[in-house]
Amino acid sequence: ASGMITIDPGYKNTGSCESGITFLDGEKGILRYRGYSIEDLAEKADFLEVAYLLIFGELPSKEQLEKFDNDIKSKSHVDEDVKKILDGFPKTAHPMGVLSSLTSALIAFNPTSVNVSSEEEMYNAIVKIMAKFPVLVAWAMRKKEGLPLDYGDNNLGYVENILKMMFKKPNQEYVQNDIVVNALDQLLILHADHEQNCSTSTVRIVGSSHAGLFASLSAGISALWGPLHGGANQAVIEMLEGIKEDGGDTKKYMAKAKDKNDPFRLMGFGHRVYKNFDPRAKIIKKAADEVLGDLGVVDPILDIAKGLEKEALEDQYFVDRKLYPNVDFYSGIIYRALGIPTEMFTVMFALGRLPGWIAQWREMRLRNEPIGRPRQIYVGENLRPFKDLNKR
Ligand code: SDX
Repeated sequence: ASGMITIDPGYKNTGSCESGITFLDGEKGILRYRGYSIEDLAEKADFLEVAYLLIFGELPSKEQLEKFDNDIKSKSHVDEDVKKILDGFPKTAHPMGVLSSLTSALIAFNPTSVNVSSEEEMYNAIVKIMAKFPVLVAWAMRKKEGLPLDYGDNNLGYVENILKMMFKKPNQEYVQNDIVVNALDQLLILHADHEQNCSTSTVRIVGSSHAGLFASLSAGISALWGPLHGGANQAVIEMLEGIKEDGGDTKKYMAKAKDKNDPFRLMGFGHRVYKNFDPRAKIIKKAADEVLGDLGVVDPILDIAKGLEKEALEDQYFVDRKLYPNVDFYSGIIYRALGIPTEMFTVMFALGRLPGWIAQWREMRLRNEPIGRPRQIYVGENLRPFKDLNKR
């Protein structure tokens, strides 16, 4: 039944809920948003269309998409006082911490977005965060790079506008370079939702206390930051760069990944659900070749990545544990080719996952789900008598 928590004593306490948004089949490597295959959506739709589909359940008509786009554009202003909060961070602050803080700070400037109950109030909160989040993402990057902050241009498309706000010199040629725009659009689609992963479950459980959409998203951003989750895309590049610095000896790192006494893991490999290829990794791997080729970028770590993948797919340890490349293994290589700094990679994951988080929060609220309360198996002490301090 909805909201039931199934405790699997054999492995891990897995909270569960009913949802009609995203379907995964880990054995067959299937991923569908509202019944549409990820392959179709990545090839034929754009990010704003997919965001609408995830949030409202249907692919939008031309009129619905135009209204959604215009409503978002009308809410793209971020209060100047938010910049004062941004100014308080040192340049060394990780952009995920900045993004989580600024997302939460937006609550103070948008009080009507907290206690939402009607679908209209929810819609207004949704278009506000869809509009302001890309500005916060861009500001986090420009803060990191010590660059002046930029606002969007409502004459540009949703993804073009993100590129314009992010890059130092938003020269039209780069911002409206189809290869760059299409590559980022596809990456955002591929990250848009993934049913009850760690950060989405966080958004749902925080939202279940009616803490509000922005507060729930801020918590989700913090959960995504971890290197076992969305932080893996940054960790993959750092791992590949380390292997390159160390002479490109992939066999040495495969041995480390299998050594039980070595905490090293092959970042970008393995998945709780996919026990076959992550369908997103297949699409991103193909896109990495195309984007780097189209941009004329030669990146030696792409070759290291492919070598590592080949070795892992032929290695019995990895085969036995069904460890395949996941969404994070190749995505960082494309972000790098687009000129996005490594510390911004997980922020780009959050930008893509935003509509999925919103859709899951909206579904949970519209279903009037009770406050989340995961169960436990108590494994502590039985009743025992108190001991005075002088007898301990
Ligand atoms: C994302 O849930 C989602 O949907 C997440 C996500 C999304 O879209 O939201 O898909 C995004 O988070 C992708 C995953 C990104 N993380 C990484 O790439 C980090 C590296 N991978 C792992 O740490 C790990 O594979 C997890 C966290 C992804 C999954 O871990 P599990 O399912 O808890 O598996 P486990 O840790 O119990 O490992 C099972 C076995 C263990 O060996 P044994 O103890 O059985 O001998 O596999 C081994 C692990 O040591 N193992 C690895 C490994 N991942 C698992 N060994 C080496 N390298 C790895 N990467």
